[in-house]
Amino acid sequence: MTSLAKVLMVSLCVIYLALQWTSPTFDPESLRGARVLVTGASSGIGEQMAYHYARFGAQVVITARREKVLQQVVEKCLSLGAQKAVYIAADMSTDADPDRVVDFALEELGGLDYLVLNHIGPSYIRMWDGDHEQVQQLMKINFHSYVQMAGRALPFLERTGGALVVVSSVGGRVNTPCVAPYTSTKFALNGFFGSLRHELVMKRSNVSISICTLGLIDTASAMKHVREFTDMPAYPAADAALNIIITGATRQRELFYPWFTQ
Ligand SMILES: NC(=O)c1ccc[n+]([C@@H]2O[C@H](COP(=O)([O-])OP(=O)(O)OC[C@H]3O[C@@H](n4cnc5c(N)ncnc54)[C@H](OP(=O)(O)O)[C@@H]3O)[C@@H](O)[C@H]2O)c1
Repeated sequence: MTSLAKVLMVSLCVIYLALQWTSPTFDPESLRGARVLVTGASSGIGEQMAYHYARFGAQVVITARREKVLQQVVEKCLSLGAQKAVYIAADMSTDADPDRVVDFALEELGGLDYLVLNHIGPSYIRMWDGDHEQVQQLMKINFHSYVQMAGRALPFLERTGGALVVVSSVGGRVNTPCVAPYTSTKFALNGFFGSLRHELVMKRSNVSISICTLGLIDTASAMKHVREFTDMPAYPAADAALNIIITGATRQRELFYPWFTQ
């Protein structure tokens, strides 16, 4: 190894350790009784987030389309220690449901501390064939519904000094072939919520925005689509979920999970 490489290695280690030491510490007690709305919580990372919030003793509202599965997730949340767990079945491809879900959570919880936006519509790994409707549909679910829910919830998050947590992807940072519709929705999220975060700072708002950039996670849906194309390691959904929750609770601007996605 050349001396320049050694200096670089040492510098990187120092920067990494400095970042570790200066990152805010997470107090699990801060989530006891917290009022949380998690979207896309019938499976994958959203489901795991619901369980973690439950273990921390939070009050959770979960949503997705499949009512039977949501019922089971709610039951498990209650058995894990959630102060409250309720669900609302909703379809984020409709105009009305994003607002309806926020209103339901506000009514059930009497306010909101965390809005965790995580759901995604169906995506495929293939070259774009000119289908504009699919892009529109995915934009509606993966992007417009996020913006709509954020707009509805922001005044209430202002009242509690709450947090907005947006689950995004490396696909929203790096152009990737064969996932153009999905990747566009994630770039849009990063653009919108990155700008909004600046505006909230300019307005001296007490609401934090955390944008969580994830690499490959071992959820059933991701594995189903990706496994025939790559054997790169997938990271555990439960661990990704915990990291997202900690990022929101400590009001950090960004999460990169696993760390090397940064
Ligand atoms: N897994 C990965 O490798 C990976 C990598 C990077 C980023 N991410 C991000 O992590 C988040 C979660 O991913 P995941 O792998 O956990 O996904 P997932 O298991 O496929 O879960 C998606 C969730 O969204 C819900 N959903 C789908 N269509 C909906 C609609 N029209 N209206 C309302 N809810 C709908 C699904 O429930 P219903 O079917 O019951 O509606 C489900 O609960 C996403 O934002 C994704 O982009 C994941």
